[in-house]
Amino acid sequence: MSSIKSLKVTTLAENLVMGGGLGQWGLSLLFELVDAKGDPRKIIMDTATVPKALLHNIEHMKLDLSDVDCLVLSHNHYDHTSANVEILALTGGVKVHAHTDLFNPHIRKNKKGKTRDIGVPKGQGLPEIEAAGGEVVLNNSPIEVVPGVWTTGEVPRKSFETPMELREGTKLLTEKNGEWVTDNILDDQSLWMNLEGFGTVVASGCAHAGPVNILNHAKKLAGTNDIACFIGGTHLAGRNTEYLKRSIAELEGFGFKLFSPCHCTGFKATSWLWETFPKEFILNYCCREIDLLDPPKNRVI
Ligand SMILES: [Fe+2]
Ligand SMILES: [Fe+2]
Repeated sequence: MSSIKSLKVTTLAENLVMGGGLGQWGLSLLFELVDAKGDPRKIIMDTATVPKALLHNIEHMKLDLSDVDCLVLSHNHYDHTSANVEILALTGGVKVHAHTDLFNPHIRKNKKGKTRDIGVPKGQGLPEIEAAGGEVVLNNSPIEVVPGVWTTGEVPRKSFETPMELREGTKLLTEKNGEWVTDNILDDQSLWMNLEGFGTVVASGCAHAGPVNILNHAKKLAGTNDIACFIGGTHLAGRNTEYLKRSIAELEGFGFKLFSPCHCTGFKATSWLWETFPKEFILNYCCREIDLLDPPKNRVI
């Protein structure tokens, strides 16, 4: 299994802003790395909710995305899939990796029966991606998207974790084979890679499979006892105190060197996690660049 030699993760879109950039409810991350053969590689994971704000940040940072190798969509939700076409316009025709369920309809239904589409928005789906030059690759198993960087594939749900916190009476539904069924967001996938001299890095979109499930699965896939870095959404926002305590207790066992939760983590969980991992924690926000081998320090206000 090949490793990578360097890795920088840049936050193209996120909820928080510190100085430059425009924030939004959504996530988009750029991975720049050097593979085992010494070749530079770029991956974009997710395309956030508001294309204008995402494109603003890309321009603000003067990023050249014309040499991006592929786009990975972590899961179907609109806050991760709303600028697929706009990103492909910058990258040119690249592979777009996703789970086989990702482009199915996904809705949220409240207790009054009112429904809302929460999946890939109109104009950003499979036909539009293909028309923009994207080559859609659907897979439920782990796949090597560039040398040394893998998806987790569908993550086994073994822990206490649930896909997300929902108001009483609210349901998530998805259409599968012509039938509406409970949506457990099985299409949720993360990326993982082994960084030489550092360890295993895991990056999630929303972590609907549960951060603990994802990290345990990544440990198996990577053949490691520790996860050196976790970065991305945790969906700990809105969880009750007991759930948060349980999650944090489990997360303490992975041996993080760096920990940068963001997006759907929420302020309460973020502050608890920062307190739990005072040395490892890196606050994530729009336009933040995290060089894993030379990580930034948090700004103390
Ligand atoms: Fe999200
Ligand atoms: Fe999500």
